[in-house]
Amino acid sequence: MVTIDKLIEKIEELPTPDFIVQKIMNVASDPNASAKELANVIMMDASLSSKVLKLANSAYYGIPRKITVLNEAIMILGFKTVRNLAMSIFTYSSLFAGGGESKIDRKRLWRHFIYVAVGSETIGEILGYPVKEELFINGLLHDIGKIALDVMSPKIMETIYDVASKKKITFSKAEELLDIPPHTVIGGKISERWGLPDVITQTIEGHHKPKMFIDSLNAEVVAMVHVSDVVVNVMFPGDSLSFGKPKLSPDALNILSLRPRMVKKFIDKFKEKVSKAKEFLEM
Ligand SMILES: [Fe+2]
Ligand SMILES: [Fe+2]
Repeated sequence: MVTIDKLIEKIEELPTPDFIVQKIMNVASDPNASAKELANVIMMDASLSSKVLKLANSAYYGIPRKITVLNEAIMILGFKTVRNLAMSIFTYSSLFAGGGESKIDRKRLWRHFIYVAVGSETIGEILGYPVKEELFINGLLHDIGKIALDVMSPKIMETIYDVASKKKITFSKAEELLDIPPHTVIGGKISERWGLPDVITQTIEGHHKPKMFIDSLNAEVVAMVHVSDVVVNVMFPGDSLSFGKPKLSPDALNILSLRPRMVKKFIDKFKEKVSKAKEFLEM
C-alpha cells in the first residue's frame, strides 16, 4: 500500500517548471511589464517561441492574418493567453518527460486536459465570467495529479486503470477501492510546490467535489471546471482513465445558477470550439 507521505517524498523528485516558464509566469502577472519584456523572455527559448507563434496562428484564436512576430502575438492575444500557452507547453513536456514505462495512453490524457480547458473557458464565456483566460489554465491543470501518479508510479496507475476499466467505474472510485491517495490530493500538493495561485490549487483539489470550496472566492472557478470535466468525460469516455458515469454535482449548478438551457448552449458552443483546437492536440 502506498501512503500519501511516500508519495510526497516522490513528488519532490518531479520536474518543476523550469527557469523560463517560471519567468514567463512572473512577467505575465506583473501589471507593469510590457509586451516586449514578455517577448524577450519567451525568445530565450527557440522552441517555445515557435510553438507560441504556431498556437497564436491556430484557428482557435481566429486571427485573420498571419502573426509572425512574438511582440505582435502578445499584443493581439494578451499576456494571460500567452502565459497559458507557455504553461500548456510546459505541462505537455512534463507529461512526456517521465520515463518510458507508462502503459497509459498519454495522448488521450492530454486531449482530456485540453478539452476540459476549452470547456471551462466556454462556460466562462456563457456565464460572462470576467477572466476567462484563467479558466483555461485551471481546466488544463485540474488532473495534473494523474500525470504525477503515472510518472511516480506507472504500476499504481496501471492498477487503477485496470480496476476502473474492468469494473466500469470512475477513476476516483477506483482510487477509493484500492485505498490509493486521490489524484486531487496529489495534484494539490504539486500545485503548492510549484507555487501556483490558490485558485489553481483549489480547482485541482475540489474538481470532483465543488462543495469543498463553496465558501471560497474561487467557488465559481472550481464549479465551472467541474461541469466542464463531467461533460468532457461523458463525451469522450475513457480519455481520463475514468469509466463510470460521472456525476454532475448539484452544488456546482447552484453556485453557477446554471439552467439546463444553458448547459445545452454550452455543449453546442464547446463542440464548435473543440473543432478548432486541433493544434493544441498536436503540440
Ligand atoms: Fe479528476
Ligand atoms: Fe478530469
